[in-house]
Amino acid sequence: MIAIVLGTRPEIIKMSPIVRECERRGVPHCIIHTGQHYSYEMDRAFFQILGLPEARHNLAVGSGPHSAQTGRIMTRIEEVFIADRPEIALVQGDTNTVLGGVLAASKIGILVGHVEAGLRSFDRTMPEEINRVVADHLADHLYAPTERERRYLLDEGIDDAKIWVTGNTIVDAVHQNLAIARRESTILTSLCVTPHDYVLVTVHRAENVDSRSKLGSILAALQLVEKEFDREIVFPVHPRTRKMIAGFGLETDGIRMVPPLGYLDFLKLEEQASLILTDSGGLQEEACILHVPCVTLRENTERPSTLDVGANLLAGTETDRIIEASRTMMTRARSWKNPYGDGTSAERIIGLLAG
Ligand code: UD1
Ligand code: UDP
Repeated sequence: MIAIVLGTRPEIIKMSPIVRECERRGVPHCIIHTGQHYSYEMDRAFFQILGLPEARHNLAVGSGPHSAQTGRIMTRIEEVFIADRPEIALVQGDTNTVLGGVLAASKIGILVGHVEAGLRSFDRTMPEEINRVVADHLADHLYAPTERERRYLLDEGIDDAKIWVTGNTIVDAVHQNLAIARRESTILTSLCVTPHDYVLVTVHRAENVDSRSKLGSILAALQLVEKEFDREIVFPVHPRTRKMIAGFGLETDGIRMVPPLGYLDFLKLEEQASLILTDSGGLQEEACILHVPCVTLRENTERPSTLDVGANLLAGTETDRIIEASRTMMTRARSWKNPYGDGTSAERIIGLLAG
């Protein structure tokens, strides 16, 4: 029995190909949802759109400070692990769900597989970097997206015998859903936007949105991008960001703020955007896969392959640098090669586990 542990929007998306592959091969599996994300548009909407089965357990941990949230995840998931005794727990990425799941499983002798292992921003001020490092050092099986992440793991002394380069399951998710999105999503019509005539934005990283000056500077840049390029700014707003914009009383004139979107609508909006501005990890990858130029609103990234191939540029959060990077990327030729694999990552991972 494989326990597929997830709790947030990107984990639901990136684990969906793993669930599908288990179903295809008839491999016994179940979903354990920590409940870290719980709003309909961050959680249930994705189960419905991606056709995922109900979670066997929903631990309903909700929001809270890091230790409280991680502690609740550990306490509740340990009970489930003890009752169900899965042979392996698969976690994905770098959230508190991953940290809590990995700590609980490894202490009671349940094997751990880490999907998307070895990513490093080398910035320990990011909670995600701490989660990734701990997960990689406790995991028994590490699925690295590319050779680069394998090298990082080896440099930290992790045994090569535990590491497999599998690509990233985000490519599988894009391949499995893009044709459906193109066919079924009517989002461009509902938002009244024209293909290649708008800039798609997401911002939610704690270090950006919890700071009044950084969030203010990003919003000011978005207003200038709208004016300079005469393109609408479409901004599906993460609940954390909506709360902070309201709390800081920041001004958003000229920015089209909409609720978080379902995956099919979002993929279609990404594919047709003239530019993506984001601090999201998943969006840096998807922009690269979809051949849409990306400007990352951070000083570093754990996805440097997107920089190497020319799909992405780091701009930080200062208004002038964001404008400058947008100018560069708006005219960038979209001829790069996707470094994250051929969309068979889940097949490889489950193949390794199920034989
Ligand atoms: C978390 C992850 C981050 C990931 C992101 C994906 C950690 C430390 N952070 O950040 O790595 O990129 O998910 O989106 O694990 N909220 C809601 N409804 C929800 C979920 C959250 O309203 O369904 C609001 C709450 O006010 C909450 C805040 O968003 O306090 C932050 O949620 P949390 O899960 O703590 O972190 P994210 O910012 O979502
Ligand atoms: N996404 C979505 N709707 C939105 C915003 C994002 O479906 O309104 C998807 C996006 O396609 C990507 C994932 O959510 O696959 C990224 O999640 P997020 O940015 O929250 O987290 P991160 O990748 O930074 O951990």
